[in-house]
Amino acid sequence: MKLLHVVGARPNFPKLAPVWRAARHEGMDQVVVHTGQHYDDAMSAGFFRDLGMQQPEVNLDVGSGTHAAQTARVMERFEPVLVSEAPDWVVVYGDVNSTVAAALVAVKLHRRVAHVEAGLRSHDRAMPEEINRIVTDRLSDLLLTPTRSADATLRAEGEPEREIAFVGNVMVDALLFAVERARLTQFRRKIGAGAGGVVVTLHRPSNVDDPARLGEIIAALRLVAEERPVVFPAHPRTRARLEAAHIAMGAIQLLPPVSYLEMLDLVDGSHAVITDSGGVQVEATALGVPCLTVRDTTEWPETVSCGANQLLYDPTRLAAAVRAVHRLVPPPRPEGWDGMAAVRVIDCLRTFGR
Ligand code: UD1
Repeated sequence: MKLLHVVGARPNFPKLAPVWRAARHEGMDQVVVHTGQHYDDAMSAGFFRDLGMQQPEVNLDVGSGTHAAQTARVMERFEPVLVSEAPDWVVVYGDVNSTVAAALVAVKLHRRVAHVEAGLRSHDRAMPEEINRIVTDRLSDLLLTPTRSADATLRAEGEPEREIAFVGNVMVDALLFAVERARLTQFRRKIGAGAGGVVVTLHRPSNVDDPARLGEIIAALRLVAEERPVVFPAHPRTRARLEAAHIAMGAIQLLPPVSYLEMLDLVDGSHAVITDSGGVQVEATALGVPCLTVRDTTEWPETVSCGANQLLYDPTRLAAAVRAVHRLVPPPRPEGWDGMAAVRVIDCLRTFGR
């Protein structure tokens, strides 16, 4: 059986790595196509090194652009690769523009598509990722879900039962594989941030594209930083917005994007995490580190119901919330967040339709 994996942006890479490893263990033939949606070393090649993977066999070099331009470029460049590779499965991950673009090309060429992390919904159609999730799920033949609520969502949307397979959370596989190596980096200590601090990530257009909203969030973070170290590895789009709006950072320690292992070490050593990223909500929860999500929706409701995550759209509530939270010991682990999700993915790919 031959698999063709398509990834493009930073959040895809930790989802790919455990599936790629499980397929290799089974001796499957596989090719990784990187669309090049993310291209900086810190956002891309460094992740493959940290995750113990070789660099992708194919890179489509699509780069940045408007949503339409980026999606179209992936489609155009992916089509001939798919024709020549002729895999049994095209495996797509998560919810980025590359995910939906590859799925659309594949179904039209009558290739079977498996979606890893199917069924997640924020129910906020203003998020580009929500559109990508809905369309990718409609197109895919096999919907591999990370949570039981994702199964329920797909059923409610009318997906046939034979297409839905609960496998659990591949991001937790990646985390458990890497966390000891992450601790050995001692990254938090090396940057002088000490223990008991807060790590921040923000990149959603709804938080960073409006200078007034971004200014309010940073003002709240400056207050947090008066009480404990605040480390903020900033996505390139966030840094550009901060610079354009001349927002003062106070005692907040702004960093360039950090590697996968460095980020895990930062999260693991933190008192709390403040984020608008889906992946970081999962990573904080799986480590038992309290997460404060600066949004009014989440595609990961299990992180909230298990007590690890709170949605706080109003940034003026952040400082009090940071004071109130405590690490969860042992870390909560929703069903299927057990380090074995990728093995179940491979089983499903092998047995589908039998
Ligand atoms: C993308 C994903 C988002 C994911 C995020 C994680 C979509 C719709 N969005 O958003 O779901 O959470 O990645 O990082 O697919 N840039 C660089 N270097 C890079 C990549 C991007 O400097 O390697 C800059 C460029 O200025 C670019 C901007 O970041 O225009 C945005 O990149 P893009 O890939 O369009 O979307 P993200 O905001 O990264």
